Order: sequence, then C-alpha cells, then structure tokens
Amino acid sequence: VSKIEVDLAKIPVGSSVTLKWRGKPVFVRHRTQEQIELSRSVNVASLIDPQNDADRVKIPEWLVVVGICTHLGCVPIKDSGEFGAYYCPCHGSHYDYSGRIRKGPAPLNLEVPDYSIDGNMLTVG
Ligand code: FES
Repeated sequence: VSKIEVDLAKIPVGSSVTLKWRGKPVFVRHRTQEQIELSRSVNVASLIDPQNDADRVKIPEWLVVVGICTHLGCVPIKDSGEFGAYYCPCHGSHYDYSGRIRKGPAPLNLEVPDYSIDGNMLTVG
C-alpha cells in the first residue's frame, strides 16, 4: 500500500500511535499544549540536527515521523527517554516531542514522511 489514511479523531491528546506504512512504522503523536511549547522553546542551535519544530510539523498538535532510529535502524519506544517522547534502547538515543535527536549516537532527527491532514483525516504517502 503506498498511502494510508487514519482518522485523527481516534487519537487522544497526549498519546502516540504506531502505523505501518510501506513496511515501516510511522509514529503519529497528538501533542499536548505543553509538549508543543516545550518543542518550540528549544535553542535550535544547540541541537545535534538543528531544526525548528515549525519546520517539522504541519499542524502544531500533530507530529508525524518515521519510527526508525537514524542510528542503526531500531524502532524507538514511545513515551520514553529523557525527553519524554521516544527512546531507542539499542544504543540509547533520546528523541524529543518534535522527533529530534537530543542525546545519544543517532546523527539525525526522525524522518518526516510525506503526509497531509484534511480535517480529521491524515494521509501518509
Ligand atoms: Fe537506535 Fe542505535 S539503533 S541508538
């Protein structure tokens, strides 16, 4: 399947779900206001892979990223790690609520796939 559609109304605020897209996991997180503010307040220049939160999301409430660690390809665990969002247990990479690498050996932020949001419908691909 090249595209998947998901009803965002079924994903409560504060939770992250994992979808399957082209054989890869995709994490969809319904961010809380606090998580949005936290993601925006980071000093971008200090990041391992400097990217503004606004350049990684289309709508502040929704984070959509490929759930594959950019180190050696393990699948991170949601709601885990020092930055609260995702943690890769293989070698200890910590990702924030924007899917950005914050600590550990991974060199890059979690990839943002092609997607669109129309009302409550998320289309990935
Ligand atoms: Fe994730 Fe190495 S594969 S930290």
